[in-house]
Amino acid sequence: MIAQVADAVQAVRGGRSLTELLARCPADLRPGTQSLSFYVLRLLASAEGARALLAPKAPPPKVEGLLLSALALLWPAEDPPYDAHTVVDQTVSAVRKRLPASAGFVNAVLRRFLRERDAIVAAVQADPVARFNHPAWWLARLQQDWPEQWQEILAANNQHPPMTLRVHARHGSAETYVQRLSQQGIAARALGAIAPQAVVLERAVPVTALPGFAQGEVSVQDAAAQLAGHLLVQAQGELPHLPEHARVLDACSAPGGKTAHILELGDFDLTALDSDARRLARVQDNLARLQLRARVLAADARQTAGWWNGERFDAILLDAPCSASGIVRRHPDVRWLRRDSDIAQLAQIQAELLDALWPTLKPGGRLVYATCSVFKAEGQGQIDAFLQRQADAKLIEVSGLSGHLLPLAHNGEPAGAAGSGPAVIDGFYYALLHKS
Ligand SMILES: C[S@@+](CC[C@H](N)C(=O)[O-])C[C@H]1O[C@@H](n2cnc3c(N)ncnc32)[C@H](O)[C@@H]1O
Repeated sequence: MIAQVADAVQAVRGGRSLTELLARCPADLRPGTQSLSFYVLRLLASAEGARALLAPKAPPPKVEGLLLSALALLWPAEDPPYDAHTVVDQTVSAVRKRLPASAGFVNAVLRRFLRERDAIVAAVQADPVARFNHPAWWLARLQQDWPEQWQEILAANNQHPPMTLRVHARHGSAETYVQRLSQQGIAARALGAIAPQAVVLERAVPVTALPGFAQGEVSVQDAAAQLAGHLLVQAQGELPHLPEHARVLDACSAPGGKTAHILELGDFDLTALDSDARRLARVQDNLARLQLRARVLAADARQTAGWWNGERFDAILLDAPCSASGIVRRHPDVRWLRRDSDIAQLAQIQAELLDALWPTLKPGGRLVYATCSVFKAEGQGQIDAFLQRQADAKLIEVSGLSGHLLPLAHNGEPAGAAGSGPAVIDGFYYALLHKS
């Protein structure tokens, strides 16, 4: 297993996405490889710091991944996945198979790390990148955007997220589903007002263990992602509930989590677009499982001439491509793959999408802009600039549901029930815009 994890970690260090690598991993090894590579990636800069201190000259790449993975697994933790002996033994025997000449060196480095662990950890943590396990540019941006909360956000990014479900609104309530789970011995709680269909599991389970999953009675979706459907469909401020059969566009729909939620909330005439035809196939799969219908089109939403017939929409969801800086706890590779320059490029695409789609919205219509990012350039900054450009756009603030939602322990919890465990919501930004 350590060999698979080491290869995954090296591939991410080389710029490849973990999701793609895991998709190619043999099915029986995937869950274990995923959970251990997540663990190592959350501690990657710490492990790199320790490696640099213990062995200033980096070992060959086929050994480096193993050494880094072992150092992360040996890092002080409340509940380490393996005991230290097992980590050292398995790593050294994996090195012996790959590059026998390096086995002694790796053994010596790991044993020294264990002997001098406290002093090495303290020395490594003097560097904020190694201490917080995020790149320097990310730390700087977060400090600038969130001078009060940046450390809390970083800590949340390194936590294990809860598994959250969305109960199909036409198949019953979150509370009833919690009872069904309890009959199967699965502990869970309904989240309540902020995301009425959300159920948070105490411990993750395979979807096949969820009653009614195959029949479309329930889906896996973070609670923050569930706010999109409510913002778009329900009465908010001066906007009434979206009427049945309204024309709805989901402009960046794949893999279809929010598309499905919107259709669970009402019978709408929905067009689901995405520029990625391969990801769009997953929208079809999700809709089929949930027995929902939409017009599904592969197109660049910015090129309206290519896909729009000129009939305007009552409501648009623009869940724009973004840095994914709000969902790092679910994708621990993201922080190591992004570059600072990506943020300006993504913000440019988001602005182009907003500008291209606004004319396709009816006067009186609503557009929900969403990103799973905590960076203001992709959230509040983006919408402030858009409001300057579009005189007929008005921002409707919805307390608790719009603006920047940070992945902090108390956010998303019912009042007075602030959890002490991992935050119940991912980081998201939502803006509800009304066209006059
Ligand atoms: C954040 S994801 C959408 C997630 C989806 N709404 C859900 O809840 O399952 C952003 C999507 O935007 C798509 N995308 C990126 N640029 C696009 C464009 N110019 N036009 C349409 N889709 C685009 C990507 O392929 C990606 O699937």
